[in-house]
Amino acid sequence: MTSRSAVTWSRAWRSASRQFWGAHDPAHHFTTSAGVLLAERLCEVVRTTDEHLGSPSHFTVVDLGAGDGGLLAAIRERCPELQERARWIGVDVRAISRPGMEGRIAELPCDLPEAPICGVVMAHEWLDEVPCDVIERDDHGRDRLVLIEGDAEVLGPALSDLEACAALGVDADSTRTWLARWWPLREPGDRAEIGATRDAAWRWMTGLVGRGVALATDYGHVRAERRTTHRRGTLRAYRHGQVCPPRVDGSVGITADVSVDSCMAAVTGSTLTTQRHALDGMSAGPLSSPAALERHFDLIRLRDPAGLGRFHWLRWETW
Ligand SMILES: C[S@@+](CC[C@H](N)C(=O)[O-])C[C@H]1O[C@@H](n2cnc3c(N)ncnc32)[C@H](O)[C@@H]1O
Repeated sequence: MTSRSAVTWSRAWRSASRQFWGAHDPAHHFTTSAGVLLAERLCEVVRTTDEHLGSPSHFTVVDLGAGDGGLLAAIRERCPELQERARWIGVDVRAISRPGMEGRIAELPCDLPEAPICGVVMAHEWLDEVPCDVIERDDHGRDRLVLIEGDAEVLGPALSDLEACAALGVDADSTRTWLARWWPLREPGDRAEIGATRDAAWRWMTGLVGRGVALATDYGHVRAERRTTHRRGTLRAYRHGQVCPPRVDGSVGITADVSVDSCMAAVTGSTLTTQRHALDGMSAGPLSSPAALERHFDLIRLRDPAGLGRFHWLRWETW
């Protein structure tokens, strides 16, 4: 029997995330792959989308979970021909104030009055922040909800107990279906993060696009990796750039990698590529200056097959 005060991971995470992002600046805690090279490649995505659409008079670029708006501003800067014609909208729980950009304070997913937009909807390292539930296989082979009680984890009801799960706001049937298809647990102690909320977020994101491209770039994994490398799940937290155990008191930024194959299957026509391939063809140019050298090493970092190169680019387009 779990106490009445115990809540699911998704619920505890949502409230912790509100506290954390309400009080902290992303730059103090995360090193994202956002930077000059990424802005250049994303600028190409924006440009080619505009061309494909025949340079429409209303063209919009939306960045979801835009942080301080730095990445969107860097993309805008590199698209001078679009600066006047396009709208540049950054949405985050924090205020964004950048010349030429419209900042929206909102908790995602939210209504976006401009949708469906003609242009690009992007999210860089936002999907991994979308809270999800956690399931653990117990010593008797039952898959159980992991709950948070105070600041500790406890095992809650088994997914076979529909009523107890429903009392915690969890649809056990759909959770079991998702688990069986995407992240089957095999042994006691195996854990999974239920990606259904990220699938829904991706569906929502693509639904914002009337004509154009939706692009989510994030840490992720596919089924084969979950069966091998991620048997204990990927839930973790960051504080001041360091990985640390997740806590739900708002002192750390909680994250879990995205089940990108499940997101892809949630929206017909989605495609997936690694950042390594997404940055194919980029070059640092002649290594004749400190700036070129910096660019060279940045490119190596972003394409590192053991690091950021494994980052995923999830894309969907409609014309
Ligand atoms: C890791 S940071 C990435 C920021 C930026 N995209 C970048 O790459 O530099 C995640 C951002 O998502 C925002 N965020 C997280 N959950 C959110 C939510 N539910 N609604 C709006 N913004 C959210 C946070 O405030 C934070 O700025």
